[in-house]
Amino acid sequence: MSDEVRSSQKAQSDEGGLSNLSHEDRRFPPPEELAASANVTAATYEQAAADPDAFWAEQAKRISWETEPTEVLDWSNPPFATWFADGTLNAAYNACDRHVEAGHGDRVAFYFEGEPGDTREITYAQLTTEVKQAANALIELGVEAGDRVAIYLPMIPEAVVAMLACARIGAPHTVVFGGFSSDALSSRILDCGVEVVITADGGYRRGAPSGLKPAVDEALTKCPDVRHVLVIRRTGQDVEMTEGRDLWWHEFVGQQSEEHTAEAFPAEHPLYIMYTSGSTGKPKGILHTTGGYLVGTSYTHWATFDLKPETDVFWTAADIGWVTGHSYLVYGPLVNGTTSVMYEGTPDTPHKGRWWEIIEKYRVTILYCAPTAIRTFMKWGSEFPEQFDLSSLRILGSVGEPINPEAYVWYRHVIGGDRTPVVDTWWQTETGMHMISPMPGVTSGKPGAAMTPVPGVSVDVVNDEAQSVPNGSGGYLVITKPWPSMLRTLWGDDQRFVDTYWSRFAGLYFAGDGAKRDDDGDIWFLGRVDDVMNVSGHRMSTTEIESALVSHPKVAEAAVVGASDPTTGQAIVAFVILRSEAGDGGPDVVAELRAHVAKEIGAIAKPRQIMVVEELPKTRSGKIMRRLLRDIAEHREVGDVTTLTDSSVMSLIKDNMDKPA
Ligand code: WT7
Repeated sequence: MSDEVRSSQKAQSDEGGLSNLSHEDRRFPPPEELAASANVTAATYEQAAADPDAFWAEQAKRISWETEPTEVLDWSNPPFATWFADGTLNAAYNACDRHVEAGHGDRVAFYFEGEPGDTREITYAQLTTEVKQAANALIELGVEAGDRVAIYLPMIPEAVVAMLACARIGAPHTVVFGGFSSDALSSRILDCGVEVVITADGGYRRGAPSGLKPAVDEALTKCPDVRHVLVIRRTGQDVEMTEGRDLWWHEFVGQQSEEHTAEAFPAEHPLYIMYTSGSTGKPKGILHTTGGYLVGTSYTHWATFDLKPETDVFWTAADIGWVTGHSYLVYGPLVNGTTSVMYEGTPDTPHKGRWWEIIEKYRVTILYCAPTAIRTFMKWGSEFPEQFDLSSLRILGSVGEPINPEAYVWYRHVIGGDRTPVVDTWWQTETGMHMISPMPGVTSGKPGAAMTPVPGVSVDVVNDEAQSVPNGSGGYLVITKPWPSMLRTLWGDDQRFVDTYWSRFAGLYFAGDGAKRDDDGDIWFLGRVDDVMNVSGHRMSTTEIESALVSHPKVAEAAVVGASDPTTGQAIVAFVILRSEAGDGGPDVVAELRAHVAKEIGAIAKPRQIMVVEELPKTRSGKIMRRLLRDIAEHREVGDVTTLTDSSVMSLIKDNMDKPA
């Protein structure tokens, strides 16, 4: 096992998460009734393994094609794949119109719950009309197929409408999480050459309106090519509207025709770009295309959650600004004709039972959220969920980071009343769809394990020499066969795509995660093996935050590490050396630097701790010894000690520096 894997394994076991890996013998077999009518059975695995191409060709029938594809996978030019390449289709038609045409126009697509308590019920028929109007609006603004549109919105129904309107006219969207800063927004706009932005005056966050439009205005001072901004009125905050550039959504979209015929695009037409952090400073633009992505997301949404579209009420409690929102709040569920809940706000506004109240109110049957949320609820206590009727729930999903056995068991017991399978879904922005997960009607779940690849997916755990490791051993998670919703490249950077994912092990997709196979061959995730942190299920790059810190005039050098944290999984800890002109930086230097990171990247990137130090431990070749810094960040009660004179931090660093690396 390599040092990287060993150290990531250690980081996990320190949390108590996987320390009991070897003696975890609790098993939760599928409830009989669920198994008896499950979408996926043991036979599905056999079928998929026998002939993956035929299996995916079969899954492609879930969606409506204008031209049926005769091709499945083309892997003649690896790692550049095409799927269903001679098929044509329209993504928005698949998500909206076809359900109306099939007589389900009155089915609710979304129960929207605003944070202040306002609600909207949107049927498939209404959604279709709104998407058509928004598509017409974009066309009037001169947006053509292939043009990129940026979406910077809170969790409101118009976010879905905006995405689908783009998809409808073949304009790839790039949704930027509303918590990102104006700088993060402008860099994404510039990277993919956006000319139209869709935003809102603001959104509600913890009981108060918070502005978005001012961040767009600031971002656009650096983006001269943006011609138009469509502004949704959500909070009613005062906003500045730039004459000739900015338009109110309710006026401009509201006046558009309700007729629009969806044009079919080739299966490999770009659907969206989603930026995500990599192990270097610059975010990567993950490119997803249309046909394979819709097949992969609709199939996994149906399989992993055992979806019954006529009766289920599905809730992905994730923001639309992340891939979970794209695949399992928008595309997967809508293509499947699902009724979903969409919630705008935070789980404790106005009270700590808000989620459970929502589940009771809409009789939610499937809940999908991140372990960090579950751990937060555990901390708050069972008394909050216990006040509500959660008996409608039948399946619980987890996503974004390894779920520790304690959280898994609490989730199943307190939220699921011991009836509900827990599906721990491993995947990535790059994979587009679930890759490793229990199937609720087949798998006997083990608390803490992601278990086995979903039918149709092939993975392995390998050592440094790309050899499969035996059961009971750890290594690197790789994906051994192409899959329909795989990223096609990085926007404008084919070489980085090849280097990042396909160069470490010839012919295998390198995910960046450490994993272990237990004695039964089931897969457990051990965390990242690169410089990527996972904070509350959000991917953050150490180098990106280091660059943000170093861009502050007082900072000479910075090193950032992810330290394990009982609630957020990992927490960002920064070590900085100040410039000599900055002296000791003054009493508020830490606050100033945290604010600076928030401005450069977004509030979610603010370090939990910043320690001002005199030097950083480095190897002889000058590489910062992050592992050592992580040890310091994890094992020492540093509190808010942040001064230059914190000699104990320095002596710890120095002591360790004397030891061989
Ligand atoms: C990274 C991908 C998948 C959508 C949300 C995050 C980690 C994700 C799990 C899981 C263990 C997980 C991995 C992965 N991760 N799900 N169930 N168990 N780790 O997407 O931002 O692209 O991050 O999140 O480290 O590589 P993302």
